[in-house]
Amino acid sequence: MSNSLRSGMLRRDRVFEFLAPSVSERLDTQCSTMLYMENVSVSFDGFKAIDDLNFYVDTGELRCVIGANGAGKTTMMDIITGKTRPDTGKVVFGRNVDLLTLGVEQIALAGIGRKFQKPTVFEELNVFENLELALADDKKVFSTLRVKISSEQLGQIEDVAAIVGLDSLMRKRAGALSHGQKQWLEIGMLLMQRPLLLLVDEPVAGMTHQEMEKTGQLLSDLAGKHTVVVVEHDMEFIRSIANRVTVLNQGSVLAEGSMDDIQQNDAVRRVYLGE
Ligand SMILES: Nc1ncnc2c1ncn2[C@@H]1O[C@H](COP(=O)(O)OP(=O)(O)OP(=O)(O)O)[C@@H](O)[C@H]1O
Ligand SMILES: [Mg+2]
Repeated sequence: MSNSLRSGMLRRDRVFEFLAPSVSERLDTQCSTMLYMENVSVSFDGFKAIDDLNFYVDTGELRCVIGANGAGKTTMMDIITGKTRPDTGKVVFGRNVDLLTLGVEQIALAGIGRKFQKPTVFEELNVFENLELALADDKKVFSTLRVKISSEQLGQIEDVAAIVGLDSLMRKRAGALSHGQKQWLEIGMLLMQRPLLLLVDEPVAGMTHQEMEKTGQLLSDLAGKHTVVVVEHDMEFIRSIANRVTVLNQGSVLAEGSMDDIQQNDAVRRVYLGE
Protein backbone atom coordinates (compact mmCIF):
# COMPACT_ATOMS: atom_id res chain seq x y z
CA MET A 1 0.00 0.00 0.00
CA SER A 2 1.35 3.42 -0.88
CA ASN A 3 2.10 5.89 1.86
CA SER A 4 -0.42 8.38 0.60
CA LEU A 5 -3.13 5.76 0.51
CA ARG A 6 -2.29 4.61 4.00
CA SER A 7 -2.31 8.13 5.42
CA GLY A 8 -5.61 8.81 3.68
CA MET A 9 -7.16 5.76 5.28
CA LEU A 10 -5.76 6.45 8.71
CA ARG A 11 -6.94 9.99 8.73
CA ARG A 12 -10.43 9.49 7.42
CA ASP A 13 -12.02 9.18 10.86
CA ARG A 14 -10.18 12.22 12.14
CA VAL A 15 -11.52 14.28 9.29
CA PHE A 16 -15.00 13.01 9.89
CA GLU A 17 -15.27 14.58 13.33
CA PHE A 18 -14.66 17.92 11.68
CA LEU A 19 -17.79 17.66 9.56
CA ALA A 20 -19.68 20.73 10.61
CA PRO A 21 -23.39 21.24 10.12
CA SER A 22 -22.58 23.94 7.57
CA VAL A 23 -20.84 21.42 5.36
CA SER A 24 -22.88 20.21 2.46
CA GLU A 25 -24.75 17.07 3.43
CA ARG A 26 -24.06 15.67 0.01
CA LEU A 27 -20.34 15.69 0.64
CA ASP A 28 -18.93 12.23 0.91
CA THR A 29 -15.58 12.45 2.68
CA GLN A 30 -15.38 8.75 3.37
CA CYS A 31 -13.25 8.35 0.28
CA SER A 32 -9.52 8.84 0.42
CA THR A 33 -9.53 11.63 -2.16
CA MET A 34 -10.59 15.03 -0.82
CA LEU A 35 -10.37 16.88 -4.12
CA TYR A 36 -9.60 16.12 -7.71
CA MET A 37 -9.25 18.08 -10.91
CA GLU A 38 -9.18 16.28 -14.24
CA ASN A 39 -8.33 17.62 -17.68
CA VAL A 40 -8.86 21.17 -16.49
CA SER A 41 -7.96 23.99 -18.86
CA VAL A 42 -8.58 27.72 -18.81
CA SER A 43 -7.45 30.42 -21.21
CA PHE A 44 -7.24 34.15 -20.69
CA ASP A 45 -7.32 35.97 -24.02
CA GLY A 46 -6.01 32.89 -25.82
CA PHE A 47 -3.26 32.24 -23.24
CA LYS A 48 -3.60 28.85 -21.57
CA ALA A 49 -2.99 29.59 -17.89
CA ILE A 50 -4.14 26.08 -16.93
CA ASP A 51 -3.50 23.41 -19.52
CA ASP A 52 -5.02 19.95 -19.13
CA LEU A 53 -4.31 19.88 -15.39
CA ASN A 54 -4.80 16.70 -13.39
CA PHE A 55 -4.48 17.11 -9.64
CA TYR A 56 -5.51 14.76 -6.82
CA VAL A 57 -5.35 15.51 -3.10
CA ASP A 58 -5.80 12.83 -0.45
CA THR A 59 -7.97 13.37 2.59
CA GLY A 60 -5.90 14.76 5.46
CA GLU A 61 -2.72 15.34 3.52
CA LEU A 62 -0.51 18.42 3.51
CA ARG A 63 0.32 19.09 -0.12
CA CYS A 64 2.80 21.68 -1.30
CA VAL A 65 2.48 23.22 -4.74
CA ILE A 66 5.48 24.96 -6.23
CA GLY A 67 6.25 26.43 -9.62
CA ALA A 68 7.68 29.51 -11.27
CA ASN A 69 5.82 32.83 -11.42
CA GLY A 70 2.90 32.47 -13.78
CA ALA A 71 2.86 28.66 -13.58
CA GLY A 72 -0.84 28.73 -12.70
CA LYS A 73 -0.78 28.09 -8.95
CA THR A 74 -3.11 30.92 -7.95
CA THR A 75 -5.34 30.26 -10.96
CA MET A 76 -5.68 26.66 -9.79
CA MET A 77 -6.90 27.93 -6.40
CA ASP A 78 -9.22 30.39 -8.19
CA ILE A 79 -10.77 27.46 -10.04
CA ILE A 80 -11.22 25.33 -6.90
CA THR A 81 -12.88 28.21 -5.05
CA GLY A 82 -15.15 29.16 -7.96
CA LYS A 83 -13.55 32.53 -8.63
CA THR A 84 -12.51 31.38 -12.10
CA ARG A 85 -14.50 28.94 -14.23
CA PRO A 86 -12.44 26.55 -16.32
CA ASP A 87 -13.18 26.13 -20.04
CA THR A 88 -13.05 22.35 -19.76
CA GLY A 89 -12.51 19.62 -17.20
CA LYS A 90 -13.83 18.29 -13.91
CA VAL A 91 -13.35 19.65 -10.39
CA VAL A 92 -14.79 17.40 -7.70
CA PHE A 93 -14.79 17.80 -3.90
CA GLY A 94 -15.05 14.60 -1.89
CA ARG A 95 -16.43 11.85 -4.04
CA ASN A 96 -19.46 13.57 -5.38
CA VAL A 97 -19.62 17.35 -5.12
CA ASP A 98 -19.16 18.91 -8.55
CA LEU A 99 -17.62 22.27 -7.69
CA LEU A 100 -18.29 23.59 -11.19
CA THR A 101 -22.01 23.71 -10.38
CA LEU A 102 -21.50 25.80 -7.21
CA GLY A 103 -20.89 29.49 -6.66
CA VAL A 104 -18.08 31.02 -4.58
CA GLU A 105 -20.17 31.21 -1.40
CA GLN A 106 -21.57 27.70 -1.75
CA ILE A 107 -18.06 26.34 -2.22
CA ALA A 108 -16.93 28.08 0.96
CA LEU A 109 -19.96 26.69 2.80
CA ALA A 110 -19.23 23.21 1.47
CA GLY A 111 -16.00 23.32 3.47
CA ILE A 112 -13.27 24.92 1.36
CA GLY A 113 -11.42 27.79 3.05
CA ARG A 114 -8.92 29.97 1.29
CA LYS A 115 -6.21 32.18 2.66
CA PHE A 116 -4.96 34.89 0.37
CA GLN A 117 -1.41 36.17 0.53
CA LYS A 118 -2.23 39.48 2.15
CA PRO A 119 -3.80 39.18 5.61
CA THR A 120 -7.31 40.59 5.67
CA VAL A 121 -7.99 40.79 9.39
CA PHE A 122 -10.08 43.61 10.85
CA GLU A 123 -7.39 45.88 12.24
CA GLU A 124 -9.65 47.83 14.61
CA LEU A 125 -11.03 44.69 16.27
CA ASN A 126 -9.11 42.58 18.74
CA VAL A 127 -8.11 38.94 18.24
CA PHE A 128 -11.18 37.60 20.01
CA GLU A 129 -13.54 39.81 18.00
CA ASN A 130 -11.92 38.83 14.72
CA LEU A 131 -12.46 35.16 15.51
CA GLU A 132 -15.99 35.89 16.69
CA LEU A 133 -16.71 37.75 13.48
CA ALA A 134 -15.51 34.75 11.48
CA LEU A 135 -18.46 32.80 12.91
CA ALA A 136 -20.90 35.11 11.18
CA ASP A 137 -22.12 34.18 7.73
CA ASP A 138 -23.20 37.74 7.20
CA LYS A 139 -20.59 40.15 8.52
CA LYS A 140 -23.08 43.01 8.41
CA VAL A 141 -25.16 41.50 11.20
CA PHE A 142 -22.12 41.15 13.44
CA SER A 143 -23.45 43.53 16.08
CA THR A 144 -26.63 41.51 16.54
CA LEU A 145 -24.74 38.24 16.52
CA ARG A 146 -22.51 39.28 19.39
CA VAL A 147 -25.15 38.88 22.08
CA LYS A 148 -26.07 35.45 20.79
CA ILE A 149 -22.71 33.75 21.05
CA SER A 150 -23.12 30.38 22.75
CA SER A 151 -20.79 28.73 25.22
CA GLU A 152 -19.97 26.22 22.52
CA GLN A 153 -18.95 29.03 20.18
CA LEU A 154 -16.93 30.62 22.95
CA GLY A 155 -15.17 27.31 23.41
CA GLN A 156 -14.50 27.13 19.69
CA ILE A 157 -12.95 30.61 19.70
CA GLU A 158 -10.69 29.60 22.59
CA ASP A 159 -9.70 26.36 20.88
CA VAL A 160 -8.89 28.06 17.61
CA ALA A 161 -6.93 30.85 19.33
CA ALA A 162 -4.84 28.18 21.05
CA ILE A 163 -4.28 26.27 17.80
CA VAL A 164 -2.92 29.38 16.06
CA GLY A 165 -0.95 30.42 19.14
CA LEU A 166 -2.82 33.64 19.90
CA ASP A 167 -4.65 32.58 23.07
CA SER A 168 -2.63 34.95 25.25
CA LEU A 169 -3.36 37.89 22.91
CA MET A 170 -7.16 37.70 22.79
CA ARG A 171 -7.63 41.35 23.74
CA LYS A 172 -4.89 42.72 21.53
CA ARG A 173 -6.00 44.85 18.62
CA ALA A 174 -5.33 43.02 15.35
CA GLY A 175 -3.70 46.13 13.89
CA ALA A 176 -1.05 45.95 16.62
CA LEU A 177 -0.08 42.32 15.85
CA SER A 178 3.10 41.43 13.99
CA HIS A 179 2.83 40.40 10.35
CA GLY A 180 3.17 36.72 11.29
CA GLN A 181 0.54 36.99 14.03
CA LYS A 182 -1.89 38.58 11.57
CA GLN A 183 -1.36 35.67 9.20
CA TRP A 184 -2.06 33.20 12.01
CA LEU A 185 -5.15 35.15 13.00
CA GLU A 186 -6.41 34.91 9.47
CA ILE A 187 -5.79 31.17 9.45
CA GLY A 188 -7.72 31.09 12.74
CA MET A 189 -10.60 32.95 11.12
CA LEU A 190 -10.70 30.29 8.41
CA LEU A 191 -10.66 27.55 11.04
CA MET A 192 -13.73 29.07 12.70
CA GLN A 193 -15.65 27.91 9.63
CA ARG A 194 -14.40 24.33 10.18
CA PRO A 195 -13.14 23.82 6.65
CA LEU A 196 -12.37 20.35 5.36
CA LEU A 197 -9.96 21.71 2.77
CA LEU A 198 -7.69 24.69 3.38
CA LEU A 199 -5.98 26.46 0.49
CA VAL A 200 -3.09 28.64 1.58
CA ASP A 201 -1.34 30.90 -0.93
CA GLU A 202 2.20 32.00 -0.02
CA PRO A 203 1.80 31.99 3.78
CA VAL A 204 5.35 32.86 4.76
CA ALA A 205 6.08 35.77 2.43
CA GLY A 206 7.44 38.60 4.58
CA MET A 207 7.76 36.48 7.73
CA THR A 208 10.78 36.29 10.01
CA HIS A 209 12.58 32.97 10.23
CA GLN A 210 10.98 32.25 13.60
CA GLU A 211 7.52 33.06 12.30
CA MET A 212 8.17 30.77 9.35
CA GLU A 213 9.01 27.90 11.68
CA LYS A 214 5.85 28.44 13.69
CA THR A 215 3.77 28.59 10.53
CA GLY A 216 5.29 25.32 9.32
CA GLN A 217 4.42 23.69 12.61
CA LEU A 218 0.88 25.09 12.49
CA LEU A 219 0.20 23.84 8.96
CA SER A 220 1.67 20.42 9.79
CA ASP A 221 -0.57 20.23 12.86
CA LEU A 222 -3.65 21.17 10.82
CA ALA A 223 -3.05 18.35 8.35
CA GLY A 224 -4.88 15.22 9.35
CA LYS A 225 -7.79 17.12 10.84
CA HIS A 226 -7.99 19.13 7.64
CA THR A 227 -6.65 18.67 4.16
CA VAL A 228 -4.17 21.43 3.42
CA VAL A 229 -2.81 22.68 0.08
CA VAL A 230 0.01 25.20 0.38
CA VAL A 231 1.46 27.26 -2.45
CA GLU A 232 4.84 28.71 -1.57
CA HIS A 233 8.03 29.94 -3.24
CA ASP A 234 10.28 29.62 -0.22
CA MET A 235 12.00 26.30 -0.80
CA GLU A 236 13.50 26.08 2.66
CA PHE A 237 10.01 26.37 4.09
CA ILE A 238 8.65 23.78 1.64
CA ARG A 239 11.42 21.39 2.58
CA SER A 240 10.64 21.83 6.27
CA ILE A 241 6.97 20.86 5.92
CA ALA A 242 6.81 18.91 2.69
CA ASN A 243 5.34 15.52 2.43
CA ARG A 244 4.22 15.39 -1.17
CA VAL A 245 5.11 18.19 -3.57
CA THR A 246 3.47 19.05 -6.89
CA VAL A 247 5.45 21.10 -9.40
CA LEU A 248 3.30 23.16 -11.74
CA ASN A 249 4.71 24.41 -15.01
CA GLN A 250 2.79 26.25 -17.73
CA GLY A 251 -0.51 25.25 -16.23
CA SER A 252 0.03 21.53 -15.80
CA VAL A 253 1.79 19.11 -13.48
CA LEU A 254 5.46 18.73 -14.34
CA ALA A 255 6.33 16.41 -11.47
CA GLU A 256 4.99 15.10 -8.19
CA GLY A 257 6.60 13.29 -5.29
CA SER A 258 8.73 13.79 -2.21
CA MET A 259 11.06 16.77 -2.08
CA ASP A 260 13.96 14.44 -2.89
CA ASP A 261 12.11 12.97 -5.88
CA ILE A 262 11.45 16.48 -7.14
CA GLN A 263 15.04 17.57 -6.81
CA GLN A 264 16.25 14.50 -8.71
CA ASN A 265 13.60 14.83 -11.41
CA ASP A 266 15.06 15.47 -14.87
CA ALA A 267 12.13 17.51 -16.16
CA VAL A 268 12.24 19.74 -13.06
CA ARG A 269 15.99 20.21 -13.39
CA ARG A 270 15.60 21.18 -17.02
CA VAL A 271 12.95 23.80 -16.24
CA TYR A 272 14.47 25.18 -13.02
CA LEU A 273 18.16 24.76 -13.59
CA GLY A 274 18.26 24.87 -17.38
CA GLU A 275 20.09 21.55 -17.48
N1 LIG B 1 -7.83 36.86 -14.61
C1 LIG B 1 -6.78 36.76 -15.43
N2 LIG B 1 -6.77 37.37 -16.64
C2 LIG B 1 -5.73 37.24 -17.48
N3 LIG B 1 -4.64 36.53 -17.22
C3 LIG B 1 -4.57 35.91 -16.03
C4 LIG B 1 -5.63 35.98 -15.09
N4 LIG B 1 -5.29 35.24 -14.00
C5 LIG B 1 -4.07 34.74 -14.27
N5 LIG B 1 -3.64 35.13 -15.49
C6 LIG B 1 -2.38 34.73 -16.12
O1 LIG B 1 -2.28 33.32 -15.97
C7 LIG B 1 -0.94 32.93 -15.69
C8 LIG B 1 -0.89 32.16 -14.40
O2 LIG B 1 -1.04 33.08 -13.31
P1 LIG B 1 -1.08 32.64 -11.80
O3 LIG B 1 -1.36 33.87 -11.03
O4 LIG B 1 -1.99 31.50 -11.64
O5 LIG B 1 0.42 32.16 -11.57
P2 LIG B 1 1.12 31.75 -10.20
O6 LIG B 1 1.69 30.40 -10.44
O7 LIG B 1 0.22 31.94 -9.06
O8 LIG B 1 2.33 32.81 -10.15
P3 LIG B 1 3.00 33.54 -8.88
O9 LIG B 1 4.02 32.57 -8.37
O10 LIG B 1 3.66 34.74 -9.51
O11 LIG B 1 1.94 33.89 -7.90
C9 LIG B 1 -0.12 34.21 -15.67
O12 LIG B 1 0.49 34.36 -16.94
C10 LIG B 1 -1.15 35.28 -15.43
O13 LIG B 1 -0.75 36.50 -15.98
MG1 LIG C 1 0.23 33.18 -7.38
